[in-house]
Amino acid sequence: MPTIAIDGPAAAGKGTLSRRIAELYGFHHLDTGLTYRATAKALLDGGLPLDDEAVAVEVARNLDLSGLDRAVLSAHEIGEAASKIAVMPAVRRALVEAQRAFALRQPGTVLDGRDIGTVVCPDATVKLFVTASPEVRARRRYDEIIANGGKADYDAVYEDVRRRDERDMGRADSPLRPAENAHLLDTSEMSIEAAFLAAKSIVDAAL
Ligand code: C5P
Repeated sequence: MPTIAIDGPAAAGKGTLSRRIAELYGFHHLDTGLTYRATAKALLDGGLPLDDEAVAVEVARNLDLSGLDRAVLSAHEIGEAASKIAVMPAVRRALVEAQRAFALRQPGTVLDGRDIGTVVCPDATVKLFVTASPEVRARRRYDEIIANGGKADYDAVYEDVRRRDERDMGRADSPLRPAENAHLLDTSEMSIEAAFLAAKSIVDAAL
């Protein structure tokens, strides 16, 4: 069964793109960032330490993939905590195991994250690496917060995007990088619709 791997940095637009691609082909979709966020939230909610690998692994192993909801996992502190526990190899192993099991679902799957094409599903049917400049990604994230009625400061959002990139690209285990055979899609100058059409034509050609 086909597996579509979509990777890229924070706020590159891969979430929206992945959901629409999954819908188009009738495939199951897993936003793997939510698995790291849900693990982090469970630790925060339980008052548990973020730097104890054994504790974090236990939480990761007991994660239920069916109830993941970005709306309850979107808080800034959760994203920060997620990227901290995501540097722990044993936490990654536990979550990757669950992600690989998900990738086997019929009739096909779309997984998005940072290491899908390189580590989770190296044999994916098609791999996309979705990027945009840090300035454009910060602007999109800022607009989204304002549109949802929140308050934000562009410089702080930009700094946040930059720090997250640094941590995701710089970690030793499964750093964010395009797989060798990934199709690069830079959405800096594209509307969501244009990015969707570009992704669709790449996927269509591969299926
Ligand atoms: O995608 P999102 O920003 O929600 O992911 C939160 C954090 O989880 C990321 O900053 C990254 O550190 C981590 N992550 C990861 N591998 C993935 C997906 C997310 O390390 N496949």
